[in-house]
Amino acid sequence: MKIGLLGFGSMGRTHTWAVENIRFYYKKPPFEAKIAGVYTRTFETAKNACEQFGFDFAAKSEDELIYNDDIDIIDICTPNISHYETLKKAINAGKHIYCEKPLCVSAAQADEVCELAYKKGVVGKIVFNNRYLAPILRAKELIDEGRLGRILSFRCAYLHSSATDINKNAGWKQNRDICGGGVLFDLGSHAIDLVYYLCGRFKEVNGRSQIAFESRRGIDGSDWKTNADEAFYMTAELECGAIGTIEASKVAVGTNDDLTLEIYGTDGSLRFSLMEPNFLNFYDNRHENRPLGGEKGFTRIECVGRYPDPAGIFPGIKAPAGWLRGHLGSMYAFLDAVHRNDTDVHPNFYDASHIQHVMEAGYESDKARRSVII
Ligand SMILES: NC(=O)c1ccc[n+]([C@@H]2O[C@H](COP(=O)([O-])OP(=O)(O)OC[C@H]3O[C@@H](n4cnc5c(N)ncnc54)[C@H](O)[C@@H]3O)[C@@H](O)[C@H]2O)c1
Repeated sequence: MKIGLLGFGSMGRTHTWAVENIRFYYKKPPFEAKIAGVYTRTFETAKNACEQFGFDFAAKSEDELIYNDDIDIIDICTPNISHYETLKKAINAGKHIYCEKPLCVSAAQADEVCELAYKKGVVGKIVFNNRYLAPILRAKELIDEGRLGRILSFRCAYLHSSATDINKNAGWKQNRDICGGGVLFDLGSHAIDLVYYLCGRFKEVNGRSQIAFESRRGIDGSDWKTNADEAFYMTAELECGAIGTIEASKVAVGTNDDLTLEIYGTDGSLRFSLMEPNFLNFYDNRHENRPLGGEKGFTRIECVGRYPDPAGIFPGIKAPAGWLRGHLGSMYAFLDAVHRNDTDVHPNFYDASHIQHVMEAGYESDKARRSVII
């Protein structure tokens, strides 16, 4: 399968790493995949990427990849604002699509893309890589087995500190004209997806945005006024009745890639932190309540490199895993689905569209200072 890669920034590199490492981590994959062509905003970058990573060719336009009969898959790693037009073109050209989050910049765009992809029968997957971390897979297994009972509440926070350096020029992720939405789109989408994946669909949200640094230098170095949220705080109710909070921030001093998740149910609770990606903490409320505690207490389940077949052979289940492992699992699931022509892949564009609706409701709620039903 030949992939046409659009954008070669941090995610272009990450996806390249994932494609190239599948053969190490998975037993005899039933497919072969390679990145054939790459397109970026400057031709020079694309040419350098080809030299460094051995792609066949650098394209001068995205159309050169999208309308190329040799290309089976379009991998979208460009800034958010361009996803919608690229998606429509690529779907109409019959390409299978691996798209970075957020799918689009509005719920209406996302709905349109879903319908088009469904009509054209292409395999479409959105990159919510954190679903593929071993502790999150184990959390899903425990919840599906009913070990948490009825889910009552959740807290998910994705915290960075990058916006606190006021001497740094704003990047495109801080410029609403290019990102379409601030940290809610960037980090919040991951947090919303994890809650959605593990606990179900959202029903109602109440959100507040924060811009902590009103002005800084813009992308070109000139004075600039911040126009995208640097933090977003949300309370939410799910269709299952659970109520909880979602927090996304780039003004959390002292954090690195701090994604934390807590889920509380009638029969048990789960806690996870991306900064400790080898473990899932599980509290089984069904343990007997003896005078000295019995076996009550959180169990630190070792997830490490324990992935289901056909993974797990290298580097071995005892080897610690990290953030990249999620991207690898996500890419494998997508390529395997394309190979089997299975359009029922998850998270798909419908999942992405639900997240987009939740985020849009969050922004609407912030503006109107009231909760919004999705
Ligand atoms: N899933 C994740 O873990 C994760 C992490 C970071 C970013 N993302 C998402 O990935 C996407 C890309 O983010 P990034 O961090 O790699 O950005 P980046 O700034 O590092 O890279 C963007 C790339 O796109 C190119 N580009 C810019 N405009 C373009 C255009 N119109 N057409 C073609 N190429 C263009 C740039 O030259 C660059 O190569 C975004 O949608 C972002 O939300 C996902």
